[in-house]
Amino acid sequence: MSEANTVTVQIEDAVAIVTLNRPAKRNAMSPTLHLEMADVLEKLRYEPASRVLIITGAGESFCAGMDLKQFFMDLKDNPPEFDRIFRIATEWRFRTLRYYPKPTIAMVNGYCFGGAFTQVCACDFAIAADEALFGLSEVNWGILPGGIVAWNVAQVLNFRDALYYAMTGDTFDGKKAREIGFVNRSVPLSELRQATIAFAKKLMEKSPAAMRYTKEAIRAVRFMNEPQANDYLSAKSDALRLGDKEKSREQGMTQFLDEKSYRPGFGHFKRKASQPAK
Ligand code: ACO
Repeated sequence: MSEANTVTVQIEDAVAIVTLNRPAKRNAMSPTLHLEMADVLEKLRYEPASRVLIITGAGESFCAGMDLKQFFMDLKDNPPEFDRIFRIATEWRFRTLRYYPKPTIAMVNGYCFGGAFTQVCACDFAIAADEALFGLSEVNWGILPGGIVAWNVAQVLNFRDALYYAMTGDTFDGKKAREIGFVNRSVPLSELRQATIAFAKKLMEKSPAAMRYTKEAIRAVRFMNEPQANDYLSAKSDALRLGDKEKSREQGMTQFLDEKSYRPGFGHFKRKASQPAK
């Protein structure tokens, strides 16, 4: 593996744009890319200059899934290394991103195949180009959807669509991805970057602690029954009040009830403190 810079980072106005950078290989995820991505996410987690994370791909592709040569073929006779890379690949694309302390957006600019579905599902939001092309291509070469992808699509898509796309390998574009609920919205490719950054800036107006705890709560209650959810959410609310260094609740109440400077129904209070999410 003699690659480097398989991931690039650009931080602008507190938005970190993380780009998978193997355009000649359609940003297929090589072992080096997994290692570099894990490192980048770790650094950005604690980087106060970045408040929202956007993940995208260089060139015409978002990500063509796992690198079939470098991951499956080159490591087939090296089970410990295969296992090490597989664990790192699973960790950043699933647990790290799902519970990332800052909002995350997948900006799907082009091809999105197989294992790339994992990071799209793990991001809090996904915005696609109308022209993007998605596919669960694994069935086309005789394997199950990669890693945790089958579970992901069973969670995110309705059941019929999950079965249909996993069993046929048919591709769908960004507009269809929106229609079946795989992404939040799709826009023409020429507007994708601007629209995604505008959305990231909207997220930055909110209390970082409230955003983070809300994300964790919505993800957690999905798999709980009602009594468990009630108990968990009550404890989570207390944890938010304790953990919110900006005291958003107090600021929000005062600005609405005393200062009458905003209406919570129509928008967010004006944040007085701007501290990095911990
Ligand atoms: N693994 C390894 N190499 C890849 C991958 C991949 N997943 N995807 C593309 N490449 C390489 C090609 O081998 C080619 O390399 P070369 O220039 O050295 O020959 C280069 O990227 C460009 O690929 P092309 O096929 O020539 O590009 P094109 O734009 O015509 O097609 C497409 C792009 C549709 C993404 C096609 O490359 C493809 O089908 N890739 C495989 C997609 C896939 O099935 N991904 C799921 C993998 S399984 C998993 O993730 C669990």
